[in-house]
Amino acid sequence: MKAYSINRYGNPDEVLRLVEVEPKQPKYKEVKLKVCATSINDYDWCITSGKPLSYRLIFGLFRPGKKMRIPGMELAGIVEQTGPGVTKFKVGDAVYGDISDHGFGSFAEYLCINENALSLKPDEMSFTDASSIPHAAMLAVQGLRDLGQICEGQKVLINGGGGGVGAFGVQLAKISHADVTGVDTGEKLEAMKTLGFDKVIDYKIEDFTEGKQQYDLILDCKTNRSIHKYLKVLKPKGKYISIGGQSGKLIQMLYLSPMLRLFSKKRVHMLMLKANTDLNYINQLYDTNKISCVIDGPYPFDMIPWAVQRFGDGLHHGKIVISLD
Ligand SMILES: NC(=O)c1ccc[n+]([C@@H]2O[C@H](COP(=O)([O-])OP(=O)(O)OC[C@H]3O[C@@H](n4cnc5c(N)ncnc54)[C@H](OP(=O)(O)O)[C@@H]3O)[C@@H](O)[C@H]2O)c1
Repeated sequence: MKAYSINRYGNPDEVLRLVEVEPKQPKYKEVKLKVCATSINDYDWCITSGKPLSYRLIFGLFRPGKKMRIPGMELAGIVEQTGPGVTKFKVGDAVYGDISDHGFGSFAEYLCINENALSLKPDEMSFTDASSIPHAAMLAVQGLRDLGQICEGQKVLINGGGGGVGAFGVQLAKISHADVTGVDTGEKLEAMKTLGFDKVIDYKIEDFTEGKQQYDLILDCKTNRSIHKYLKVLKPKGKYISIGGQSGKLIQMLYLSPMLRLFSKKRVHMLMLKANTDLNYINQLYDTNKISCVIDGPYPFDMIPWAVQRFGDGLHHGKIVISLD
């Protein structure tokens, strides 16, 4: 089978090599999948580029670890073979999922993965859409609904709103009848307005933490400021939810947020993603046309190195999807 593999960090077009590898056989509880679509995520950029450097503590100090040699962690595909002990699926089932809790490897024609990383794909959902949903949509649901407890009429801001999480986040926020501001830059801003953001801010021109507007809820895909700056633009009982960002700022938050509880009603949370939890909730919204997927692409398999670079350059709007059909 064909796969994109890496054995050192660097520019995607230099280090992601198209190789021919022997497909594996599914082990206990694993299914072998034919990959129909996969999408590009932050992890793929980090595993390939080795940036930010702090991620090398997880992925490998000098080169990506053996388990990450074929990147890709979100996919939709068809079950080709079931290993011993598999109870959830049968051959021919169409499935999708965020597989990052169990491994990587969706930049390939086939992969073997634990059945618990997958859910049945609804018939009416295309493989392209299905591969764009699990990771970003679950981050948005768990950030806005579960931790943020978003309510009608609230003023909500999504920082880094032009990417995968922002595209689902704004649609979820509008379902809750919130007033949503999105922060990003460039051509994405117009597309964000079309998708439902009530207001957009270009972070290269304006710093929302220096403005007068205060928010009930901030969902941050790009935490890059000190906690004090975010607190300034939170309403007295407002919530700030970080889903990722610069490690130094995240560590600061981890230590300071318990102290904040002693003297303020403002809350700061860091989201720990529970992969694939509550995909049914998103499926229902998708079935009833309450949310749609914002797809950048789909691009063909041989454009994976280009697509990873596109993600790293921040040129995408929504989710970059690779189709193998
Ligand atoms: N909490 C967890 O358990 C967990 C698990 C996995 C991943 N994550 C995190 O989830 C996030 C992924 O979100 P995503 O998929 O939506 O990412 P994404 O598609 O890369 O979107 C992020 C957007 O933020 C924009 N941006 C860059 N710098 C910015 C700034 N200073 N201010 C405002 N916006 C800025 C980017 O645009 P430009 O680059 O063009 O400027 C991009 O459009 C990552 O932070 C990742 O680390 C969290």
